[in-house]
Amino acid sequence: MKIVFFGAGNMASAIFTGMIEKGTVKAEDIYITSKSNRVAAMEFKESLGVNVSYDDAELCKDADYIVLASKPQNFTDVAERIRPYLEKKTKLISVMAGIHIARIQEEAGMENAVARIMPNTNAMVQYSVNGIAFSDDFDNKDELIELMASFGKNVVVGEEGMDNITAATGSGPAFLYYIYEQYAKSLEELGFSKEDAEKLTRNLVIGTGKTLSERPESFEQLRTDITSKAGTTEAGLDTLSEFKLQEMISKTLGSARDRSKKLSER
Ligand SMILES: NC(=O)c1ccc[n+]([C@@H]2O[C@H](COP(=O)([O-])OP(=O)(O)OC[C@H]3O[C@@H](n4cnc5c(N)ncnc54)[C@H](OP(=O)(O)O)[C@@H]3O)[C@@H](O)[C@H]2O)c1
Repeated sequence: MKIVFFGAGNMASAIFTGMIEKGTVKAEDIYITSKSNRVAAMEFKESLGVNVSYDDAELCKDADYIVLASKPQNFTDVAERIRPYLEKKTKLISVMAGIHIARIQEEAGMENAVARIMPNTNAMVQYSVNGIAFSDDFDNKDELIELMASFGKNVVVGEEGMDNITAATGSGPAFLYYIYEQYAKSLEELGFSKEDAEKLTRNLVIGTGKTLSERPESFEQLRTDITSKAGTTEAGLDTLSEFKLQEMISKTLGSARDRSKKLSER
């Protein structure tokens, strides 16, 4: 297997590090290239053993997958590097937000199968949630799904679902961080120092996440399990349920989805 990454930044490195650490792909089967920051690419060669090349013909030769991992605004430059050497068998995997399959095929290779993937920043700790959308001619989808399982959980959607994924789990970590920020501020209001408020909130979130990773019960079940009649949790939840929390979240996701749609318009 030969997987080539055009772009060796945050997202690309999270993905190839996950693949190597999980043993899904051997470091010697991974090739990376960047635009101008050759030092960063060479550091990955030294730390992980991946190949680094700036010879586009060599990079594209016999590649099974080419991962398009530059910023969307650099896609045209990347397409120009790839187009002259792209082989029909090579599948193009795009991490770039907002660039449609049709445009990737138009600019890089009309005959090539394409998948768009939308990981999130938790890919850096191999705990991403990935949306995947395939072009109609993409065969052996399971192979890509398995490769992507090395850095997260996958949900396959139609291309029209990518804006929803971008909002739900691409932007999702930022929405949750915002909620945790407010939680910590409220703890300060209760009288905790800023440092303790941050520490308590952070560990509350980590512990709750760990519980979720180990217990399959529904969120509702987990909540009711720890809510005793006339207890403190019930009192807090009674107040919380007076606010339209779900409506707030729905509107937040709607705005993010609409922005994603707008950014995808050419
Ligand atoms: N961060 C996220 O949470 C997230 C989530 C989902 C999707 N994405 C998508 O992931 C993509 C990359 O984001 P990032 O945060 O990893 O960006 P980044 O850290 O800035 O990395 C971009 C990489 O692309 C390289 N590059 C630029 N032009 C190139 C060219 N012509 N040929 C080859 N390589 C080129 C850059 O090389 P130099 O360093 O040499 O300039 C750099 O290695 C974006 O399209 C973004 O939409 C990000």
